[in-house]
Amino acid sequence: MLFLSVLSSCLAGVAALPPYGGSQEFFFKGHDLSSLKMLEDGGCIYKDTTRHNQTMPADDILAGGGMNSVRLRVWVNPVDGTYGLQYNLDLAKRFQQKGFKIYLDFHFAEDPQKQPPPAAWPTTLGPLALTLRGYVKDTLVSFHEAGINLDLVALGNEIRHGMLWPLGQADVDVEPWPATVANFSNLAILYKAARAGVDDAIYAGVRKPEVMIHIDNGWNLTLQQRWFGALTANGVPTTAWDVFGFSFYPFYGTAATFDNLRTSLNTLAEEYRKPIQVVETDYPAICNGEYHPIPPSSEPEIPYSIAGQTIWTDDVIKIVQDVPYGLGRGVHYWEPAWLNSTSLGSNCSDAILFTADYSNPAQTVGYSRTSVHMFQVRA
Ligand SMILES: *[C@@H]1O[C@H](CO)[C@@H](O)[C@H](O)[C@H]1NC(C)=O
Ligand SMILES: *[C@@H]1O[C@H](CO)[C@@H](O)[C@H](O)[C@H]1NC(C)=O
Ligand SMILES: *[C@@H]1O[C@H](CO)[C@@H](O)[C@H](O)[C@H]1NC(C)=O
Ligand SMILES: *[C@@H]1O[C@H](CO)[C@@H](O)[C@H](O)[C@H]1NC(C)=O
Ligand SMILES: *[C@@H]1O[C@H](CO)[C@@H](O)[C@H](O)[C@H]1NC(C)=O
Repeated sequence: MLFLSVLSSCLAGVAALPPYGGSQEFFFKGHDLSSLKMLEDGGCIYKDTTRHNQTMPADDILAGGGMNSVRLRVWVNPVDGTYGLQYNLDLAKRFQQKGFKIYLDFHFAEDPQKQPPPAAWPTTLGPLALTLRGYVKDTLVSFHEAGINLDLVALGNEIRHGMLWPLGQADVDVEPWPATVANFSNLAILYKAARAGVDDAIYAGVRKPEVMIHIDNGWNLTLQQRWFGALTANGVPTTAWDVFGFSFYPFYGTAATFDNLRTSLNTLAEEYRKPIQVVETDYPAICNGEYHPIPPSSEPEIPYSIAGQTIWTDDVIKIVQDVPYGLGRGVHYWEPAWLNSTSLGSNCSDAILFTADYSNPAQTVGYSRTSVHMFQVRA
């Protein structure tokens, strides 16, 4: 909490900041900007309140706050194209030109909440796995052909309950343990197919991205140990992914504490000796019970406020930075610029990093909050 006082003195020094953590490896300070093109196309603009409300692209404002990478989600054949392949190629090209690392988050579905397979995909396991493999390869080749180097690729989004339901549905709470392992058998086949699609792409000339498995509730060690235990018990070697990605949110349950996150990440680093990132987090600026009962924060000392957004994220960075062996490699804030979806899936009304002004229906304006500088608190 003391770190806030150094904010203003840090603003000028983005490039000069030393790397995070005990590692000389790149530390991702990312924002998920998946919706930005849709918002811009719909007339949203952004203003930098530290530059006399100068109108600027949101990514430039966030870069001024220390962002060095952008996360983008890709859906299979979405109806209106938003989050589809071409949409992502356009955004990724723009962000890569500005020097940001690109992290592609494969959803393998049009509806991430329920993980159903795309309507046109086969409904039996073998053919589905083949289609998945081909889709991963083709997508990666498309980025390559568009001149985009992907740095990080997640094969599935928050796949705690598997992906490509019902065939790939999985549940770590099935008992006894041999039944858990059996329950993960289809998911393992599908994951291996997706991973083979990455190898196919490399064979076709694509530069190898880091491959991530992304699970939610990163604070829950039991969940993660069982999940990765069941996957590897099905013959998926630990070499089949390069980096763990976890979501960590304060408002879905009070067990999502910093202590639990630290224990979980540190233990997994000891057990697997693999890089780890927190790939989705956010913290409410406004939570006043206007639409829903106020959910308790898992770290109630941190206020729901703009200052609280920075404190929360900086504390998460510190925990990742302190993961043993320098294996903590990044933190990503989820959709800080989403001016018309400000709750970001929470029961609080606003967890983004801009204050939206809707007074002109033709042009929503996002004014940067001081929390856009969250990645500059810690050098
Ligand atoms: C947000 O605004 C964009 C651009 O106008 C529009 O396409 C999209 O449907 C809106 N989303 C929501 C959740 O209102
Ligand atoms: C920036 O815009 C906000 C919102 O309209 C306003 O409150 C503030 O005074 C403006 N700042 C400057 C420097 O113009
Ligand atoms: C795994 O268990 C869940 C919960 O019982 C079930 O919905 C799913 O179909 C099972 N998956 C497989 C492949 O058996
Ligand atoms: C942690 O995950 C395990 C496995 O899914 C689950 O049984 C347990 O209830 C979770 N813990 C909490 C506090 O939700
Ligand atoms: C949000 O609040 C509603 C009640 O308005 C509740 O049913 C729901 O579980 C809450 N959702 C979350 C994610 O906390």
